[in-house]
Amino acid sequence: MYVCVCNALDENTVREAARKNNGFQSAIKIYESLGVKPQCGMCLCDAQEICNMEKQSHQSQ
Ligand code: FES
Repeated sequence: MYVCVCNALDENTVREAARKNNGFQSAIKIYESLGVKPQCGMCLCDAQEICNMEKQSHQSQ
């Protein structure tokens, strides 16, 4: 399922990028690491939630 339709980023791609970077502070940083930028911005809340989950799971290990 796409998290970001504008950039064709699916949940796994965003999650994987967050995991590799220990859950960046912001979704925008994750997008930058993937070489894209937010466009409409509709996805940022969901992308941020994924980042937060990955960050929490990294910290609890
Ligand atoms: S859905 Fe991600 S920028 Fe539009």
